[in-house]
Amino acid sequence: MTVKQPLIITVDGPAGSGKSTVSRILARKLGLPYLNSGAIYRAVTLAVIDAGVSFDDRPRVAEVISRFSLRSVEEADRTRFFIGDREVTDRLKDPDITAQVYRIADESGYRKLLVDLQRRSVQRHGVVAEGRDMGTVIFPDASIKFYLDAPAEERARRQHLELVSRGVPSRYEEVLLKLKERDHRDLSRTDAPLLAAPDAVRLNSGGLTIDEVVGRFLDHIQKQCGSP
Ligand code: DC
Repeated sequence: MTVKQPLIITVDGPAGSGKSTVSRILARKLGLPYLNSGAIYRAVTLAVIDAGVSFDDRPRVAEVISRFSLRSVEEADRTRFFIGDREVTDRLKDPDITAQVYRIADESGYRKLLVDLQRRSVQRHGVVAEGRDMGTVIFPDASIKFYLDAPAEERARRQHLELVSRGVPSRYEEVLLKLKERDHRDLSRTDAPLLAAPDAVRLNSGGLTIDEVVGRFLDHIQKQCGSP
């Protein structure tokens, strides 16, 4: 596919909507870098915990963030994440990190410190960026914006199966409860809440396969870019 460049594509949506998988595949098909902003919030949370710093200690958290760097390596079916030489791919998804990430995500001051880091991911050709505020705050002038949603029960089921497949003890009912709590936090945050940009194309992934969602996104991109 030929596309106008730089092409910035944003994919926002709630936890478990399938946006990470879809964005990663989309980025690969378009030959663009992939930004997983949720991984940045998770990795900062991990870095603060590992540094033994309290989330309330603003100067020290700011210092951790200023030294922070997350490297990602794309493989055929997943993205691997490294802080320095240490691989943190699975660790980032652990329930204790998921439960604490709001300590960074809900703090306006910390979010501001992460804006440039996210914008720097745009390379010459563009980026596929996924998260909660990609189309509204980080890349408001993005060429194409998507908002991907799915019923809470289906999103919780996917997350539960993902945890079980990694051997992490998990109960569906608890995952669903935590997911609803996280939705509430994401939606009610004063700074950069989870929100579809007014110019975003909305899609509900409920009942659709990943390939079907990717196919619909590619159709839209093709129409927008006017390429054969
Ligand atoms: O997409 P995820 O579940 O890995 O994101 C982890 C958390 O990070 C999520 O609970 C909210 C936060 N987040 C955010 O506040 N803004 C983003 N752009 C991405 C994630």
